[in-house]
Amino acid sequence: MKKKLSVLAFTLAIAGAAAPAFAQQQYAKAEDAVHYRRGAFTLLGYHFGSLGAMVQGKVPFNSAQAAIDGDVIAIASKLPFHAFVEGSDKGQTGAKPEIWKEQAKFTDLRDKMQAEVAKVSAAAKSGNLDNLKAVFGAAGQSCKNCHDNYRRRL
Ligand code: HEC
Repeated sequence: MKKKLSVLAFTLAIAGAAAPAFAQQQYAKAEDAVHYRRGAFTLLGYHFGSLGAMVQGKVPFNSAQAAIDGDVIAIASKLPFHAFVEGSDKGQTGAKPEIWKEQAKFTDLRDKMQAEVAKVSAAAKSGNLDNLKAVFGAAGQSCKNCHDNYRRRL
């Protein structure tokens, strides 16, 4: 009995010690983080692009689709950023190493984009194309402002 208890105590101690590290680093390998964030950006790009096509008149405005796109971009704009973990600047990634040296600047560009995307999301869900047109350009620029500095094309 005593032995069992001490094994349990030991296990809990290990779990406790490991927990904070796990919260920060939820990817087994750096390439898993790259995979995750690229997937999240792909989702963001797809649904942002869907709205862009409506704004530019390449496809007719479809309020049901716009509402879905609006929901997805609001979430997808937040997803990639916890996946810029240390050591994930290598391999199949378009992320420039400067991201990890200029984190304040990178975070600022992230915050600005998320604020612009929130406006696009609300406009997309309003069912009014003019609302969307009014805010779309600034959001697109906020993507570009980061990509110009911190992304290279693969
Ligand atoms: C704060 C910086 C930042 C902002 C803002 C940003 N991106 Fe990116 N984006 C990146 C980085 C870095 C990568 C490369 C990620 C990688 O390959 O690991 C990337 C990659 C992408 C990709 C390519 C995904 C792939 O691997 O095929 C798409 C699409 C994309 N972003 C869309 C967008 C859109 C749309 C917006 C604006 C709504 C946006 N991004 C805003 C930094 C940003």
